[in-house]
Amino acid sequence: MWRYAAVLPLRSGERPVGLGEGATPMHEVPALARELGIARLWVKDEGLNPTASFKARGMSAAVTRAKALGVPGFVVPTAGNAGAALAAYGAAAGIPVRVYAPASTPPPILATIRALGADLQLVDGHIGDAGRQSRAFAAERGFFDVSTLREPYRIEGKKTMGLELAEQLGWTLPTHVIYPTGGGTGLIGMWKVFREMRDGGWLARDVRMPRMVVAQADGCAPMVRAFRERADRATPWEDPQTLASGLRVPGPLGDRLILRALYESQGDAASVSEQAIREGTMRLSLASGVDAAPEGGCALAVLELLVRAGRIAADAEVVLFNTGSGASYRF
Ligand SMILES: Cc1ncc(COP(=O)(O)O)c(C=O)c1O
Repeated sequence: MWRYAAVLPLRSGERPVGLGEGATPMHEVPALARELGIARLWVKDEGLNPTASFKARGMSAAVTRAKALGVPGFVVPTAGNAGAALAAYGAAAGIPVRVYAPASTPPPILATIRALGADLQLVDGHIGDAGRQSRAFAAERGFFDVSTLREPYRIEGKKTMGLELAEQLGWTLPTHVIYPTGGGTGLIGMWKVFREMRDGGWLARDVRMPRMVVAQADGCAPMVRAFRERADRATPWEDPQTLASGLRVPGPLGDRLILRALYESQGDAASVSEQAIREGTMRLSLASGVDAAPEGGCALAVLELLVRAGRIAADAEVVLFNTGSGASYRF
């Protein structure tokens, strides 16, 4: 990821806190594209990052800056994977980490957080409940709060997903990016960098920007509901439930930025059932060889739904994100 240091928050001479994040493979899956009825499909496999999710990118950037600024400790509320990533980068930086995670988080992810030495606090409820406890702890102890979009650097790390996919496509862009959306930083970061690349002359001036597509679960779809209502804010989802635990974010702090990315890119948003997520996960794995997480399965199920509904056309060239690893969810 730090190959892109020139456009990341790193002072000259400063060494990043890195563990080999980024530079993940992007696989073209022509047979699956044919089955779905689109021109081309690539799967970007973020499960191969340190601690097995794209969260490594944001935490590498955030921990690098916070270490340079001399923070005494880190605290984060998490749906799981962000906590595992922070535990790893905190250990690499030699800075203590406290993580607040729902007790329902998949056990392999909780085990990773503990194994990397973080002080894990289990919370009854969802990531919003974890956030309240985490903020109280940060205020009391002076630990730095690394919550999604409460600090400016995680998004800078996550934008490298957009840089990489463009580089992997020979500095062109796909027609659509399908992204399983919880807090939305990945989507917001990519939309930010697509504009930076265009405005900075990395891409042809007349490049067609991709349509950004939010994939969510029927059991927690605040962004889909807000998009359908053409709202500029999302109202929190009551009783969020989904096996794709990374998507169990009932009230994303970045709701306005997610919606702006959708409207500006003429994007789309849809949700699917738990059954469709299960089937999508299996299908993605079998068709690509990637060990798909349920969040990736959700993205595939949403892609299929939108193609069938005529909302994604037959000439589409789509990049779909598998944001984590299936291994984190098997127990
Ligand atoms: C595997 C996985 N996919 C997707 C998401 C949602 O990511 P974002 O917050 O960028 O929307 C998460 C967040 O926890 C996750 O762990």
